[in-house]
Amino acid sequence: MSSSESVPKFPNQLIFLALLGILAASQPQTATGDPRAQTVNVTCGNQMEANPAIFVPNFVATMENISEQMRTSGFGVAVAGSGPDINYGLAQCYGDLSLLDCVLCYAEARTILPQCYPFNGGRIFLDGCFMRAENYSFYHEYKGPQDRAVCGNATSPIGNNNSSLFQDSVRRTLSQAVADAPASNGFSRGQLDIVGTNSSVFVLANCWRTLNSSDCRLCLENASDSMMGCLPRSEARALHTGCFMRYSDRDFLNSEVAGTGSSGAVPVIVIVVSVVSCILVLIVGGAIGGYIWKHRYIEKKRRGSQDVQKMVKTLNDSSLNFKYSTLEKATGCFDEANKLGQGGFGSVYKGVLADGREIAVKRLFFNNKHRIGDFFNEVNMISSVEHKNLVRLLGCSCSGPESLLVYEYLPNKSLDRFIFADVNKAKAMNWDRRYEVIVGTAEGLVYLHENSKIRIIHRDIKASNILLDSRLRAKIADFGLARSFQEDKSHISTAIAGTLGYMAPEYLAHGQLTEKADVYSFGVLLLEIVTGKQNNRSKNAEYTDSLVTWVGFCHSRA
Ligand SMILES: *[C@@H]1O[C@H](CO)[C@@H](O)[C@H](O)[C@H]1NC(C)=O
Ligand SMILES: *[C@@H]1O[C@H](CO)[C@@H](O)[C@H](O)[C@H]1NC(C)=O
Ligand SMILES: *[C@@H]1O[C@H](CO)[C@@H](O)[C@H](O)[C@H]1NC(C)=O
Ligand SMILES: *[C@@H]1O[C@H](CO)[C@@H](O)[C@H](O)[C@H]1NC(C)=O
Ligand SMILES: *[C@@H]1O[C@H](CO)[C@@H](O)[C@H](O)[C@H]1NC(C)=O
Ligand SMILES: *[C@@H]1O[C@H](CO)[C@@H](O)[C@H](O)[C@H]1NC(C)=O
Ligand SMILES: *[C@@H]1O[C@H](CO)[C@@H](O)[C@H](O)[C@H]1NC(C)=O
Ligand SMILES: *[C@@H]1O[C@H](CO)[C@@H](O)[C@H](O)[C@H]1NC(C)=O
Ligand SMILES: *[C@@H]1O[C@H](CO)[C@@H](O)[C@H](O)[C@H]1NC(C)=O
Repeated sequence: MSSSESVPKFPNQLIFLALLGILAASQPQTATGDPRAQTVNVTCGNQMEANPAIFVPNFVATMENISEQMRTSGFGVAVAGSGPDINYGLAQCYGDLSLLDCVLCYAEARTILPQCYPFNGGRIFLDGCFMRAENYSFYHEYKGPQDRAVCGNATSPIGNNNSSLFQDSVRRTLSQAVADAPASNGFSRGQLDIVGTNSSVFVLANCWRTLNSSDCRLCLENASDSMMGCLPRSEARALHTGCFMRYSDRDFLNSEVAGTGSSGAVPVIVIVVSVVSCILVLIVGGAIGGYIWKHRYIEKKRRGSQDVQKMVKTLNDSSLNFKYSTLEKATGCFDEANKLGQGGFGSVYKGVLADGREIAVKRLFFNNKHRIGDFFNEVNMISSVEHKNLVRLLGCSCSGPESLLVYEYLPNKSLDRFIFADVNKAKAMNWDRRYEVIVGTAEGLVYLHENSKIRIIHRDIKASNILLDSRLRAKIADFGLARSFQEDKSHISTAIAGTLGYMAPEYLAHGQLTEKADVYSFGVLLLEIVTGKQNNRSKNAEYTDSLVTWVGFCHSRA
């Protein structure tokens, strides 16, 4: 870490605050359970949406409305629109999730479900929550042709021999859960320790709250029957129209409902002492903290607002406007082979223009005509915001059949490919380069936050959103989630957006959006760049392995 020697002269306050926040989040008092936000299955409707111009805003409105309800009750239904384009939505977290975990799980569900577009409707089962949207009222449906069980692929070690011990234990636990749930708000959990072995069976059963108890029972009976077909597998999940059920020989349940997830008192002195011990690893961050600190408090803030109408006209008149056919040709009709990646709001393809210029084309899930506000918001912001550490927007296809954004192409792709995936690439990313990436990202962020025309909170800072140019300098990408906001308005966001593991706890819990949300994500990114470990990477519910928790460990051993 050759460049770290000069660091102490920078003020450390900001990075210190970021760490304090991260550590506080990893304290037992605020520790959440496991949101179990892994997707089990997404099933999309099979009819094309007739009138996207009306459908999409309805769909978005439904998700926003449900978002509010999820935060307070772990369940939500909403209806938006009318006629054939009406949108009915339902989302529910399973009963053992805390509200904070619920928000996390829902945030994941609502980022993935729009991938069903342009098919109308769809449902997504995650391990911690469920969401469904249709153009008719499905709230009282409890069975359907798509109901099925998904079996684990391992056999229970004790279900293996000819005793039916495991099978019997699972049957007993399931039927107990089916009997219990209808009378207790549609939710029940079960555990049975199998006598004479060290194995147990764990069961979760949950009906959607729109069902009455008799329909709930019917759904669970059917669900439990379909799971029996999985025995002697050690695990199974039933994905039914009105309920979700799961058994496993592994304890996947959250031990207790942790309430609202609001924090208890954190022993500040202990943290301060431990931060000092942890900070050695992260001292590089001090420089960045100082940089942001200096810019935030010394530079004068100027504001302005942008007229959307004017912007639309400007766009149509300007050279920013690419023809749809040009881009279609450049990307080989959006050939899978040219696909660079996929984000919550769209897929990105590599393209080559007729003059040989390489470009990256982002194909948004939603058609511009129908999400015009968001689309132009993005175009407007990025085209007015130019900085060496931000990916440059070359233009868009505004009038074609779908929304396309055209960016400069960066051959080295994203930072995550360098620091997590590939040993050789990780070596190429030496300390000096990592330091440069950190400083570059910080400069880009400061520019967004302190922009003279519009202040921008990125909301989704993470390794895969930091692209690298030919000289491995950082450029922040994907402003799809960004929103400008006016100062002096407390900004409550109904649309929690971002990526699990990078989102600040206060943003998740209260939807309060400030630049601090980016600073928290930046803190997580910093830990990742320094350690080469990915936060929250383990897919199999081992959330206790997250990098942030690991840093918390460092604290508890101090
Ligand atoms: C959500 O929708 C319901 C009706 O479906 C409506 O009564 C309620 O006001 C909406 N809430 C918000 C926050 O929009
Ligand atoms: C739902 O959408 C489909 C396809 O657009 C349409 O045929 C159907 O009539 C709609 N259903 C209702 C209840 O409006
Ligand atoms: C999801 O479930 C549907 C029907 O229930 C099935 O057709 C589809 O293959 C499943 N998808 C995956 C990825 O398992
Ligand atoms: C079980 O399935 C998972 C993916 O669903 C796979 O990664 C794993 O290798 C499989 N295990 C066995 C023993 O087949
Ligand atoms: C078979 O089941 C018995 C219980 O009946 C258990 O004690 C034994 O460990 C099992 N054998 C194997 C190979 O798992
Ligand atoms: C279970 O019993 C059947 C006959 O009842 C026998 O064919 C089979 O080999 C046995 N399997 C094991 C694992 O003992
Ligand atoms: C349970 O028993 C198996 C062997 O029968 C052993 O490998 C395993 O470590 C035991 N697990 C615990 C938690 O004791
Ligand atoms: C439960 O709801 C269904 C459909 O809404 C209805 O047919 C049934 O009679 C209800 N059962 C009870 C006991 O209320
Ligand atoms: C569950 O219900 C469906 C639809 O009614 C039916 O086809 C299926 O046989 C039932 N499954 C079980 C295991 O009872």
